[in-house]
Amino acid sequence: MSEQTLSNLSTETRRFEPPADLAAQANVTEEAYDRAASDSEAYWAEAADRLDWGQKWDQVLDWSNPPFAKWFVGGTLNAAVNCADRHVAAGRGDKVALHWVGEPEGDRRDITYAELTDLVCQAANALTELGVGKGDRVAIYMPMIPEVAVAMLACARVGAIHTVVFGGFSADALASRIVDCEAKLVITADGGFRRGSASALKPAVDEALLKSEVDKIEKVLVVRRTGQDVEWQEGRDVWWHDVVDRQPTEHEAEMHDSEHPLFVMYTSGSTGKPKGILHTTGGYLTGTSFTHWAVFDLKDDDVYWCTADVGWITGHSYMVYGPLANGTTQVMFEGTPEKGSWWKVIEDYKVSIFYTAPTAIRTFMKQGREIPDGYDMSSLRILGSVGEPINPEAYIWYREVIGGNRCPVVDTWWQTETGQIMISPLPGVTAGKPGSAMRALPGIAADVVDDEAKPVPNGSGGYLVLTEPWPAMLRTLWGDDQRFKDTYWSRWPGLYFAGDGAKKDDDGDIWLLGRVDDVMNVSGHRLSTTEIESALVSHPKVAEAAVVGATDDTTGQAVVAFVILRESAVAEADEQGEGSDLVAELRAHVAHEIGPIAKPRSIMIVPELPKTRSGKIMRRLLKDVAEHREVGDVTTLADSSVMDLIKQQESTTT
Ligand code: WTA
Repeated sequence: MSEQTLSNLSTETRRFEPPADLAAQANVTEEAYDRAASDSEAYWAEAADRLDWGQKWDQVLDWSNPPFAKWFVGGTLNAAVNCADRHVAAGRGDKVALHWVGEPEGDRRDITYAELTDLVCQAANALTELGVGKGDRVAIYMPMIPEVAVAMLACARVGAIHTVVFGGFSADALASRIVDCEAKLVITADGGFRRGSASALKPAVDEALLKSEVDKIEKVLVVRRTGQDVEWQEGRDVWWHDVVDRQPTEHEAEMHDSEHPLFVMYTSGSTGKPKGILHTTGGYLTGTSFTHWAVFDLKDDDVYWCTADVGWITGHSYMVYGPLANGTTQVMFEGTPEKGSWWKVIEDYKVSIFYTAPTAIRTFMKQGREIPDGYDMSSLRILGSVGEPINPEAYIWYREVIGGNRCPVVDTWWQTETGQIMISPLPGVTAGKPGSAMRALPGIAADVVDDEAKPVPNGSGGYLVLTEPWPAMLRTLWGDDQRFKDTYWSRWPGLYFAGDGAKKDDDGDIWLLGRVDDVMNVSGHRLSTTEIESALVSHPKVAEAAVVGATDDTTGQAVVAFVILRESAVAEADEQGEGSDLVAELRAHVAHEIGPIAKPRSIMIVPELPKTRSGKIMRRLLKDVAEHREVGDVTTLADSSVMDLIKQQESTTT
C-alpha cells in the first residue's frame, strides 16, 4: 500500500455520532463488545438461539483441530425452515418476504412468507423427484428472479449443496465450477432481462454441458422467464413450470447436522483456479442472521434492500440467508440501475435500510445529485456499504445526498471466506469516520500485524488478520484441505490472513487499504490477475500476458493487460495494420473465457514484459505505467531497458 494512501486517510477527521433516537433503541449497544470479549462462545450461543434448532448443540465451538472449525457441534437445524416456515408458524405468514422488481416496467411481484414457504416446499419436492438428495451438488445459474432464492432454499431444505454461478459468467466459468464440485443438476432460466432486452442464459448452460469433462449432470431445470426460444434436449431438460408447479406444498423437512455443507461459492484467488469456498449450516446461518440484525439494527417493520446480485456472497448472506432467517421484508431487483430507477424503488417501497457498493455510489455521484434529489427517500434510516474501501468523498455524498444527513453509514468489511460481516460500525454505537470500517464486531477478533505477525501500533499500517474463529467462517476449500491451509493459514501460524492491507489510526480504528495479493477488485467484484492472464494466453495469438489492477474513478480498479504476441501474429498484425482489431478480439476472448466483467479496460501490445532475474513479472512497474506514473525502481529487472520499450509503446498508442 502506498504511503500516499496512508497519509490521505489520516487527514480525514470528520466524525458522525449515531442519531440519538436510534442509539436509544439500538439492537446492540456498547456493552456487547466487553461481554463478547469476555466470553465469545456464550455470545455466539446467544446469537444461535435466535434460530430454530431441531436438536440443540452440545458444544459451541470445536477448535481442537485448527484451522478446521466446527460450530454448534451436535446441533441440528434446517436453513430453509429457518428462512421460511418458522415465520409462518410464528403467525407472520402474511408478511411480505420479497418485493420483487423485475426489469420490464411494471413487472413486479410480492411474495409473502407463507407463499415463499409453499414455493420452497414445492421446489424441494421437485428436487426429490429429479433424483437430487442430501449431499448432492446443484449448480444454479439464474437471473435475479424469486425462483433463484426458492431454488437455493429448496436445496438447503433437502440438504443438497448449491453452488450459484453469477449469470454474467461465461460457459467456461460455469463448466469449470460444475466439474470442480461434480454437480448433478443445473437450475437455470431461458434468460433474464438486462438493459431493456432479454439476454439468454440457457445457451451458456448448453455450451458448458457439451464439454467432455462435464459428465455428471443428469438434468437441467429451466425457469421460463423471458419466453425466448431455447434449444431443448429431451430427457435432460425440464421446465420448472412442468415439474415444480404441480408439486404439493407440503414437505417434511429433515433437520441437518449443524456442520452439514450448505453451499460452495467460487471466488478468485491469487492463482488461476477459482476456489470453492465451503460454508456449512449452523454457523453460517447464525453469523449471517445475527450480523444482519446487529449491523443494520433491523426492526420488524423495516424494509431492507441489498442491491447485490445473488451470484456473489453478498447476495447469499445479506439477501437470501441473513434477511430471510430474520423474517425481513426486502426488495429484490432484477435490472441494471437506470438513472433514478433505484431511488424510485426506495420511494415506492419506503425502503428503510439500503445496502450497496461504493462503485455504484461513485457512478451516481457522477450523474449528479439532481437525480436522487427528485425522489422522496425520507424512509431511509441506515445505509450500508460493502465490497471495497469507500473513499471519504463517496461516503459523504452517500450520507448527505441519499441519507439526507440523518442516516448512519455502515462500512462493512468482510469476504466470501468470512461469510458474515466482520468489521463494521454499529449504527447505534459508533461515531463513524468516513472511509473507515472502524472495529471488529462484538465476538470477532481482528488485528493489523507486521511481517513478523506482531500487532502494529496505532497509527501504522500492515496486514489484516483474524485471530479467533467465527461462526460463518469457511470450513475448507471444496475438495482441497491442503490449499485451504496454504492459502489462509500458512503465512503466520494460527492467524487467518485475509489478503488485505489495513491501517490502525490513532484511536485504533481500522482503515482498509485494498488487497496485497494478486486479487483485483473491480466494481466490488473479485478478479484474479492470474486467471485473466491465463485467459489471454489461451488465445492463439498471445505468447505472454501480464495483468494489473489500475486505479479507476468509478470501478475502484480496472483491468489493464500487457500482452506479448506470438511471432506469427506480430507479422500478421504488421501486414494488416490490425492493432486495434486485435485488441478488440482479445477483449472479447476474455469475456468469452471468464465473463464480461473481466474484460480488460485496455490492452497494450508490448515487445517484452518486465521480469526479475528469477523470471517473476514485476507487476508493480506495469501498474505505474497503467496509472500513468513515473516508473519506479527498475534495478531488480533482468533487463532494465524493457521498461523504456514499454513506455515508448505507451506513448505511441495513447
Ligand atoms: C474487499 C465481498 C474495504 C476486500 C463481501 C476483501 C472491502 C474483498 C470491503 C472480499 C470494505 C469487501 N472495505 N474492502 N467494506 N468489503 N472488501 O469475497 O479486499 O467478493 O478482501 O466479498 O473485498 O471480496 P468478496
